[in-house]
Amino acid sequence: MPKLDDRLKAVAVQIRSSVHADIGSDHGHLIKALLTAGRIQRGIAIEVNQRPFENSRSTLTGLNADVRLADGLAGLNPGEADSLSICGMGGELIARILQSYPDRVPPDLVLQPNRCPEAVRRWALGSGYHLVDEQLVIGRLRYQILRFQRNHACPDPAYASVDRDAALLFGPLLIRRWEPQFRDVLLDEYRYLNDFDRRTNESQHRLDALANLLQSEPPHSNGLDG
Ligand SMILES: C[S@@+](CC[C@H](N)C(=O)[O-])C[C@H]1O[C@@H](n2cnc3c(N)ncnc32)[C@H](O)[C@@H]1O
Repeated sequence: MPKLDDRLKAVAVQIRSSVHADIGSDHGHLIKALLTAGRIQRGIAIEVNQRPFENSRSTLTGLNADVRLADGLAGLNPGEADSLSICGMGGELIARILQSYPDRVPPDLVLQPNRCPEAVRRWALGSGYHLVDEQLVIGRLRYQILRFQRNHACPDPAYASVDRDAALLFGPLLIRRWEPQFRDVLLDEYRYLNDFDRRTNESQHRLDALANLLQSEPPHSNGLDG
């Protein structure tokens, strides 16, 4: 898939549908890569700002894609897309965009918050979307790529038998998989926050949650010993 960094590559492999909308398309590379790889038949790129809207339009010229200048889901009709991505924004903004037009949110979502993924997980829990996959990609930041599917039938099983607070902050599926790279990211953040003399309530809360997770980590050695 041309021109995608590891973060957007990890997003792209989660998407396979007929019509896909990307909100905040900026350069338009994600939709282009999805179309040229045959992962989608039609793309809808939505941008709120003029310059990135024009960049998307230029990237997607000649491809089966609409490029729209609009604020989030205001640019998408109900039922128009099978799937949607929102990448490279804060989690609160992603949640706000989704909350603004609940009836326009497609059944399949891939969301990549640059920060505050808990806002996205909280939105999904309250809106009948189940978390079906979480990936961690280490780049300029530590990116979480979250995939959701609409399911109003039952509570999200991703949160069964994990601490809800830690799961919202760090990811229930990532915690269950407990891969070395994920554990190292948690341990780095624990050490960083632990070195602070004065912590905000929020950073103290994260530190406590990290300490609990790392102390109760599954079978291998306790990360807090070293
Ligand atoms: C940091 S860029 C990320 C671009 C691309 N999605 C990526 O991950 O590489 C965020 C883009 O989202 C656009 N954006 C922010 N809020 C938006 C909204 N409410 N509706 C549509 N686009 C928005 C910005 O103009 C910007 O181009």
